[in-house]
Amino acid sequence: MVVSSPSQMGSFLFVFSLLLVLASGFHRNLPFVPFDEGYTHLFGNDNLLVHKDGKSVHLTLDESTGSGFVSQDLYLHGFFSASIKLPSDYTAGVVVAFYMSNGDIFEKNHDEIDFEFLGNIRGKNWRIQTNIYGNGSTSVGREERYNLWFDPSDDFHHYSILWTDSQIIFYVDNTPIREVKRTESMRGDFPSKPMSLYATIWDGSNWATNGGKYRVNYKYAPFVTKFSDFILHGCAVDPIEQTSSRCDTTQASIPTSVSPSQRSKMDNFRRKYMTYSYCYDQVRYKVPPSECVINPLEAERLKVYDPVRFGGGRRRHGKHHHRTSRSTTDAI
Ligand SMILES: *[C@@H]1O[C@H](CO)[C@@H](O)[C@H](O)[C@H]1NC(C)=O
Repeated sequence: MVVSSPSQMGSFLFVFSLLLVLASGFHRNLPFVPFDEGYTHLFGNDNLLVHKDGKSVHLTLDESTGSGFVSQDLYLHGFFSASIKLPSDYTAGVVVAFYMSNGDIFEKNHDEIDFEFLGNIRGKNWRIQTNIYGNGSTSVGREERYNLWFDPSDDFHHYSILWTDSQIIFYVDNTPIREVKRTESMRGDFPSKPMSLYATIWDGSNWATNGGKYRVNYKYAPFVTKFSDFILHGCAVDPIEQTSSRCDTTQASIPTSVSPSQRSKMDNFRRKYMTYSYCYDQVRYKVPPSECVINPLEAERLKVYDPVRFGGGRRRHGKHHHRTSRSTTDAI
């Protein structure tokens, strides 16, 4: 690029810095919503505690109950985010979830977009799972699971969902970790009705850690997870009429797709940290669901975790086998 005058230089810098903002930290442009303005208590009595500043919330699981909160509105599309710190130490069987759903309203054909955090035995890290359901497609699980590049119980990190009518993107600290592009063949399986946001902590003993092998041990209770920096940037709509009452049309600071540099970060993340994807699970799906975009590098990497499940039924006796094959059947 040839920059020939100071004013051109100025506008070049302006556009450049805008791109930088979009690429590196779009959530910083969006306002954080105080708890009482965006959310309301869902369950767990005193196990939900709103901090004095009104901006952060503690959710506790103990022997008596878990706890949770729900958004006051239902949203059709938008950008939704929370900063979350998970319980530390021994957390096997504990599930923290940050998700969208309309299961209360559409019992038979609900939609869902999930971040689920699966606790672990001491010394082993939390894992994240993402999933989506559309129009009651609960017979088709679309789970992916990942390790993280940090300990999510050490500090707060941002977990975000971008949902438009054409795609869903999951982010961790502004790194896209998963992109679901709507395909025609997905039909109703792509979430398309207004949903509420939920945050919960609960006892997932039967499921969360190695398929229920490690249950919640209440000797280590209470399990406390902290939420703050709430972003609810979307169209609040009536779920039945689907008319919007409060629609934020200034979507300028919302990403609408994955930029090339974001994509390379996403690819790197997935190659390094993804440990399970339904798209490559030949035990569950002889033919991958139609929206799956098969990436040979991802497939190769997943074989490390389970050569049978991800390897086309050809048993390999690689040296990684014994180390990793235990962790593949949990939480499905
Ligand atoms: C969603 O489910 C309902 C009830 O099962 C059905 O009538 C409708 O056609 C479905 N919509 C789509 C887009 O698949």
